[in-house]
Amino acid sequence: MLVDGAARVACVTPARRVAGRQVTTLAGLDSARRATWSDAFCATGASQCGFCTPGIILRLESLARRSPEADPTGALAAHLCRCTGWQTILEAARAVRDGNTAPGRRSRDYEAAARRATIEGGRPQVVGPHVACGEGGFADDSAPADALVAVPAADGGWALGETPAEARRAAGTVMGRRSTLRAVPPLEVPPGDWDCTLRTCWTEPAYLELDAAWCVPGGEPTDPLANGGAFGAKVRSEAPAAARRLADQTGRPVRVLYSRADATRLGLKRPPVAGGANADGRGRLAVARTPGIAEAVAAVAPGLEVTETDVAGPATSADLRGAGTLEALALLAGARGAVGPVRLPGGGAATAQVGDIIAVEVDCGHPLDEAVLRSYCIGAAHMGYSLVTSEAIATDAGGAVADLTVRSFGVVPATRTPPVEVTVRHSDCEPVNGSDAVFVATAAATWLARGFPPVWPTDRGA
Ligand code: FES
Repeated sequence: MLVDGAARVACVTPARRVAGRQVTTLAGLDSARRATWSDAFCATGASQCGFCTPGIILRLESLARRSPEADPTGALAAHLCRCTGWQTILEAARAVRDGNTAPGRRSRDYEAAARRATIEGGRPQVVGPHVACGEGGFADDSAPADALVAVPAADGGWALGETPAEARRAAGTVMGRRSTLRAVPPLEVPPGDWDCTLRTCWTEPAYLELDAAWCVPGGEPTDPLANGGAFGAKVRSEAPAAARRLADQTGRPVRVLYSRADATRLGLKRPPVAGGANADGRGRLAVARTPGIAEAVAAVAPGLEVTETDVAGPATSADLRGAGTLEALALLAGARGAVGPVRLPGGGAATAQVGDIIAVEVDCGHPLDEAVLRSYCIGAAHMGYSLVTSEAIATDAGGAVADLTVRSFGVVPATRTPPVEVTVRHSDCEPVNGSDAVFVATAAATWLARGFPPVWPTDRGA
């Protein structure tokens, strides 16, 4: 939002701080200017779920008014876009700055674009300029005005209130804080004489649209995955079932809302691993106990013997993008000392090279819409690069997540993300997911570029 014309991060600005001042949200921007931004974002693929983009557009608008010639990269420091990996946002910002916003609306097939986005996101998605304006249809936006609000309570139950503030006061939970604890890989490498070893930490999927769902008594709850796949993280969200149960118990519509701290405390994490492998493809991988993880590893690395281990820490999920698959394939690549093409079961193929730039090539059937496919591939490349080099969350001695703020997740910011070049192999074959293969290939190539050090993240504290 703009406060007296200056960009402010709305989600951490208390209303009392803006009392008596002029507040402008994206809806209050001049409609022609709003269309310029949203068309540019849509044309470059700078918006996927669209949760982050209204704030980012206002940040860029503020910069454009103050310093029209400035490079926009640094302006993104206060924001997080988890979907796009920044680059397409910067392309949109530069296009607006330089007046290169040729309208492509009429010639674009938005249904084909949405089909590609759905294949890449794993959930039904829409594509269009309105998405960049935050109109993708988020779960909480359609909640009835008279709904009770329910938030996770400190005792493991739900706290209810007429407003989010009232419910949060009743919850007794601690809002976001950043700990000084270090993230430490919780598992030890199984004994053996290995060509390569790897240990990883818990990581936070860090999706932007937090878990939310609402339900009327006797009704069906809304889906917390309204316009984004959350990289597999919200598939098992408790929000819909809780909304239904609480609506039936109270006889009123109920909105379930997670804060960022709630999602970080309660959300499912990428399972940590510790493994060793040899160049012949054989090895052993210890993994935090996670339903489905042994099958995910076996599908791509049958020579790895998987041991699931109970370890005090946050709950984990094999639904997260490439969970187990990435770690197993990277470990085998490390043992061979080389990263080859990645082809995932049921999905596409990708290669990646990581140096001053990240160069990826993807083969995933008919592209359907190149801007969307490129956007998802760049986002996936950023996610793979960021995971290996920087991401981890700390836990306390009891295994509770100690870092509850976005800044503590270690997501690589725009200023430290290498440019990503995407080559799309053209094909008329049935379209399949390509960005997951890009994610795995880029992560493995990033680890190779760092010389296969035995712990992820490789650069934290460097
Ligand atoms: Fe930025 Fe989804 S488009 S978080």
